[in-house]
Amino acid sequence: MLSIENIKKTFNAGTVNEVKALQDVSLRIENGDFVCVLGTNGSGKSTLLNAVAGTFIVDKGSIMLNGTDITKWSEHRRARYIGRVFQNPFTGTAPNMSIRENLALAMKRGKNRGLGWGLPKSLISNFKKMVTPLNMGLEERLANPIGKLSGGQRQALTLLMATALKPDLLLLDEHTAALDPKTAAKVIDLTQHLISKDNLTTLMVTHSMQQAVNLGDRIIMIHQGKIAYDFKGDEKKHLRVNDLLALFDELRRKDNIDPAVASLIEEYYV
Ligand SMILES: Nc1ncnc2c1ncn2[C@@H]1O[C@H](COP(=O)(O)OP(=O)(O)OP(=O)(O)O)[C@@H](O)[C@H]1O
Ligand SMILES: [Mg+2]
Repeated sequence: MLSIENIKKTFNAGTVNEVKALQDVSLRIENGDFVCVLGTNGSGKSTLLNAVAGTFIVDKGSIMLNGTDITKWSEHRRARYIGRVFQNPFTGTAPNMSIRENLALAMKRGKNRGLGWGLPKSLISNFKKMVTPLNMGLEERLANPIGKLSGGQRQALTLLMATALKPDLLLLDEHTAALDPKTAAKVIDLTQHLISKDNLTTLMVTHSMQQAVNLGDRIIMIHQGKIAYDFKGDEKKHLRVNDLLALFDELRRKDNIDPAVASLIEEYYV
């Protein structure tokens, strides 16, 4: 279980550029839950994932993963338990290394053992088995540099790498946003398959309401660094894209009104 208690993160505190990116966020995610995270640009979605992954240490609050307090752990230490895929296909892989070297690196995630360039045959055949079902022709290109692959191929591969060791937690940050619709759909299918295969606990940021409606069993909407809505169970099952759009409109309307009134409304809704 991921248990986040009252975390806060302020960027550039005390300067004119101060941003309260996370304001007292608490969240519990049971093992096997698949949570979609929605929110407008700059609402704090990536900051939430980064806080969990350890990109920075939170200013306040605590983060527990399966009963272990990881609040002060480095990003590298957390990487052993947390798999990640980012929006940019060029993040999270080493472009000049071959596909199989990248996969090998993923298999050693967080283990500090160095690469070991002579990859055993068994590992290579294992990789072939992993990439063949993608139908992207990657099995023939395992020795090629990963930097030569298309965005979709890279995202699919990054996803395989992030899930290869069955992480305790999978963090996906708009990992299909940079892809064309057809490729995005393929990568989403793969995402769903990999998550359900190992029942992975997942936090997936998306801008696509359709994805949020179709995937997972919970939807969280972030607004101004706070969790504005949290839908689970039947409530989530019955949510449709139009319902989500209406909620977004509501949040936007609140933004445009007098701050004093807005905070009153917020107390009511949040
Ligand atoms: N490293 C940083 N330094 C300063 N400000 C930051 C940093 N990272 C995020 N912010 C600010 O924190 C706020 C939340 O940003 P965040 O990236 O979490 O938003 P987001 O919801 O992921 O948006 P998007 O949908 O555009 O990806 C924004 O105002 C952003 O400018
Ligand atoms: Mg973001």
